[in-house]
Amino acid sequence: MKKYDELYVANKQVWTDGPGRILEKIPPVIKKGKVLDLGCGDGKNSFYLESQGYDVTGVDISTAAIDRIKLRFKKNGVEPKGNYYTQDIMEMKPGDYDILVSYGIYHDLHKGRLEKHKDIQKNCKVLAFCSFIEGIPLSEKVEWELPTKNEILELIKGWNIKYISESVIPGVLYPDLFHNTIWVLATK
Ligand SMILES: C[S@@+](CC[C@H](N)C(=O)[O-])C[C@H]1O[C@@H](n2cnc3c(N)ncnc32)[C@H](O)[C@@H]1O
Repeated sequence: MKKYDELYVANKQVWTDGPGRILEKIPPVIKKGKVLDLGCGDGKNSFYLESQGYDVTGVDISTAAIDRIKLRFKKNGVEPKGNYYTQDIMEMKPGDYDILVSYGIYHDLHKGRLEKHKDIQKNCKVLAFCSFIEGIPLSEKVEWELPTKNEILELIKGWNIKYISESVIPGVLYPDLFHNTIWVLATK
């Protein structure tokens, strides 16, 4: 994915220092286990999860993002213990993970994403999820495909919703753009 590669190459760190806002809701629900960080980017969530003792695997389509994860750990004086590699989510098979973190990635996926995401999450016990959703018209600057809230509810059909929240937030990449966003923590 050229666009993201360029972004990660041009910046030592793209995303925030701290983890996404629902990550701290994971430890009270499940204290340890294997996590898949889907579309992990430069590792803001993976770094937090490793610091909490989880066994983390992170995948991202951008090789530059995977390189940047090492920088994030180094900046914090530690080496990554987890397994981080380049992978297109749309070509993944379900693994043996306890927790799926899918953060800011779903709106980046296109045709077939609902079935693929459901397949990847099917062996997991906990899902920590965040996506932009429909509500505010998209800028021409982005190639996202915003899901409806119903698509997200379909994604977590049969799961127990521990937490769900929706609000409008400014973008990190484009602070002048606002995004309708949904956060979900769900268990099986
Ligand atoms: C908005 S960033 C979020 C990164 C990270 N999850 C976070 O919250 O900081 C979206 C990430 O998804 C990755 N991505 C987009 N499409 C992908 C795909 N088909 N397979 C794997 N990663 C993908 C991008 O390279 C990018 O790093």
